[in-house]
Amino acid sequence: MFHIFTVIGARPQFVKAAVVSLAIKRLGRGIIKESIIHTGQHYDYSMSGIFFKELNIPRPIDNLNVGSFSHGKQTGIMLERLERVFIRDHPDMVLVYGDTNSTLAATLAAAKLHIPVAHVEAGMRSFNKLMPEELNRVAVDHMSDILFCSSDASVKNLRREGIPDKNNGKCCVVLNVGDVMVDALKFFYSYAEKRSKILAKLNLKPRNYYLVTVHRAENTDSLEKLKVIFKSLNIIAEKGSCVVIPMHPRTLSALKRLGMKNFSKNMRIIGPVSYFDMLLLEKNAAGIFTDSGGVQKEAYIFRVPAITLRTETEWVETVKSGWNTLVPINEKAIMLAFDKMARFKRDSLRVTSNIYGDGKASGRIAGFFQKYFITTVKIKPGLG
Ligand code: UD1
Ligand code: UDP
Repeated sequence: MFHIFTVIGARPQFVKAAVVSLAIKRLGRGIIKESIIHTGQHYDYSMSGIFFKELNIPRPIDNLNVGSFSHGKQTGIMLERLERVFIRDHPDMVLVYGDTNSTLAATLAAAKLHIPVAHVEAGMRSFNKLMPEELNRVAVDHMSDILFCSSDASVKNLRREGIPDKNNGKCCVVLNVGDVMVDALKFFYSYAEKRSKILAKLNLKPRNYYLVTVHRAENTDSLEKLKVIFKSLNIIAEKGSCVVIPMHPRTLSALKRLGMKNFSKNMRIIGPVSYFDMLLLEKNAAGIFTDSGGVQKEAYIFRVPAITLRTETEWVETVKSGWNTLVPINEKAIMLAFDKMARFKRDSLRVTSNIYGDGKASGRIAGFFQKYFITTVKIKPGLG
């Protein structure tokens, strides 16, 4: 059996790994064993445990319980603990997702031990090196051996950086498999519809509320920007629209530091919700405000208009399609974009093709591993 170690630690990675794990189980039977390592970057039940339970993700063989620290310290602790696990267990492949500190630490630990790394969501770029995620992605892509891309744009980004051609003798593969978040949404939506009671619980009517998620460092570390965002949302709520905000713990602490309270009664600030609840909230929203990568994409897949509270995005296709608008953090721009979104006619836009794939990305990833281990590796190192 070939052993893949999947390293995950942050909320969006749980969603992505859930569907890929299922596909590996299905297609890798008798050939591949997958074990999950949880770095512990996210640890609150609402940010971690609930995803394992709801999405039936296999129980991690190790939880490194890293917790929250500055970037260097958090990544450093993960690096040290992951290295220990990899040296102990000799995985045949390390599988990582996205662009978090967990992704970077796992890739660096594995690459230095010459363990092949497969990166899901490779090639995404915002071209903004002030974003911690951009630094992580670029480093991870240049150290990875198998780069699973979500779109044509991400393949082009890698080629522009000389991957795979300049990977100096190292076997390196770039494949556009589609986006595993499409798979997750398609696979789990019917379960979510049956099980989630969130609309009734919050007394929400379809298309009668706006959904908001904000957690990006550039918005939460700047109290000035955070103030503009919440002031604008509060004006929208005061004018009569219901605004539902499942709040990331990082944003909650920033808001407390800011001392902003006495919001309109139409501002519904709640804790982070489960994936099933989130899918229902997204699908039925009149519009979405976000700075999340995953939520931008999900809004697009559900064809719900979105305002992205950033000046650039990795998910450029959502903007080109007309469903997503990038808005700088100033009150006038946010209010203008909101007025436009409130008047948006969903049937005014042609439904574009599936730019992020057909919902079969995880099958392609597992299928690739199956062939890779049978044809490329053949003899298991250390056992041959
Ligand atoms: C991380 C990722 C980001 C991703 C996001 C998904 C990096 C650099 N950033 O950002 O790309 O979009 O996850 O949500 O890896 N906290 C809690 N409880 C938790 C987790 C976090 O209270 O379970 C609080 C802590 O105060 C912590 C802060 O949130 O300091 C930020 O958490 P962290 O994981 O460092 O970054 P995210 O903003 O979540
Ligand atoms: N999500 C969730 N509950 C929430 C907020 C987000 O289940 O309260 C899901 C969302 O549907 C998407 C993923 O988490 O699948 C996105 O994660 P996040 O916004 O934290 O990170 P990003 O995608 O920006 O890296």
